[in-house]
Amino acid sequence: MKGKFITFEGIDGAGKSSHVDWLADYLRQRGKVVHITREPGGTALGEKLRELLLNQAMHLETETLLMFAARREHLAELIEPALARGEWVVCDRFSDATYAYQGGGRGLDRAKFLALEHWVHEHLQPDLTLLFDLPLDVARERIVRAHRVLDKFEQERVDFHDRVRQAYLERASGNPSRIRVVNAENSIDHIRKQLEKIVLTIC
Ligand code: TYD
Repeated sequence: MKGKFITFEGIDGAGKSSHVDWLADYLRQRGKVVHITREPGGTALGEKLRELLLNQAMHLETETLLMFAARREHLAELIEPALARGEWVVCDRFSDATYAYQGGGRGLDRAKFLALEHWVHEHLQPDLTLLFDLPLDVARERIVRAHRVLDKFEQERVDFHDRVRQAYLERASGNPSRIRVVNAENSIDHIRKQLEKIVLTIC
């Protein structure tokens, strides 16, 4: 039996991370073995690359290649073995983030993204992607309210985040059965009820 791969996506400040733990607990209560992980990161090497990627300025293609290098390691070390054992993986961001941030936000050539996606995970896509969507000003307000040091992406200008959001929505409309858009402005309770309904479709 193959496990299921669920990813969470959205612009910075969409509040997806708080729902990751909740969904994993929900699935565990239904008897699943669940791994929570994130990108960039999820392995010892991946977390080192994350530190660089979130803080160090670099060429766009270097950034993209490092995202996919971390991803290759993550797939080999954690995601693929867990799925092969029939376990579930809940991952905070995956390749849709590269499509949206490096592609939409920074303007990476689409063909280069597709070539890397094909190379790194030709035969694997998430079974379900939850895209947390909300207006930029609401997301920004949440980030400011959190009072923490902003990473390289969070420090980008509003037009960057607008392009990221549009790229996510475009990717969602091209993959409607995999990517489900969640209105991140709704209350936590409302969102949880919606997540329950969506996730039951793949249980
Ligand atoms: P994020 O997931 O928002 O973590 P936190 O909740 O701790 O802030 O941070 C990861 C950042 O990395 C986010 O701004 C998006 C960016 N990113 C990319 O640009 N490309 C990618 O392929 C991935 C996975 C993330």
